Amino acid sequence: MERMRSTCEFEVWDGELPPPRKILLEKVLDKVGLLCLLTDKVDYQLMDKAPKLRVISNYAAGYDNIDVSEATKRRIIVTNTPDVLTDTTADFTFALLLAAARRVVEGSKQVREHKWKTWSPLTLLGVDVHDATLGIIGLGRIGTAVARRAKGFDMTVLYYSLNRKRKVEEELGIRYAELGSLLSESDFITIHTGLTRDTYHLIGSRELAKMKGTSVLVNTARGPIVDNVALYAALRDHKIAFAALDVTEPEPLPRDHPLLTLENIVITPHIASASVTSRTKMALMAVDNLIAALTGRIPPNPVNPHAMTN
Ligand code: DGY
Repeated sequence: MERMRSTCEFEVWDGELPPPRKILLEKVLDKVGLLCLLTDKVDYQLMDKAPKLRVISNYAAGYDNIDVSEATKRRIIVTNTPDVLTDTTADFTFALLLAAARRVVEGSKQVREHKWKTWSPLTLLGVDVHDATLGIIGLGRIGTAVARRAKGFDMTVLYYSLNRKRKVEEELGIRYAELGSLLSESDFITIHTGLTRDTYHLIGSRELAKMKGTSVLVNTARGPIVDNVALYAALRDHKIAFAALDVTEPEPLPRDHPLLTLENIVITPHIASASVTSRTKMALMAVDNLIAALTGRIPPNPVNPHAMTN
């Protein structure tokens, strides 16, 4: 706020929930910049309402909430907050993976509900993470950081990505696999790809059917990459063992959503990047991007740099 105060006048939405669409559309009418969250849909309709808009600064690494090609057509620069949340998100991916494998949430629930009576050899048996095979879908910054952690757990790591990353393969001793083989060979599968038209429901019934009956699916990327209906059926019928999701479609899930009736799932409220350090860095970065664009400089993290030169 302080940084912004010295550069521009601004209005802040301080409601606990995102601004209702109608209000957002009214508020952007005379604005030249927008600093938004991943919960704000920034589409052609919003851009139509904001004829003066020059920059959309997203407080997130992902920017699937923004119609970037529409922005580029209008020479509106779009920015995001990559890098600063990579390790934090990779840490959390492992938190979910370990929680799922070792039944941490079920164990905590038993204790709190006074259902744990005594130590016993068969209480809440899980599966080992060390020495298991991890399949990473999407080997960008976060996927690579997850691979690095996995090596610390002596895991065999496979990855599937649009482009092969031979340098990372060599450096970390990990192996490229086609999606089908990754799904059938892995004990844990974790998603680290952006949400695009191509990755929407990338994991559906066909893909889940390829996974081992003992496997665990982790998603800290974007909810719609997984088809919830197919996931529900796979978990209910124990076609896969467990899912650990930080992201869902929609967010939050409605109270009566079938996934919430299952025992073999852990769901957290989209908090993979939620450390004090990362969220602070994201905020500063979003402000720096906004100010740079408004003062005629190239912002540090443009998503569509060509919007400035077109
Ligand atoms: C992102 O940045 O895209 C995360 O989902 C939230 O930090």
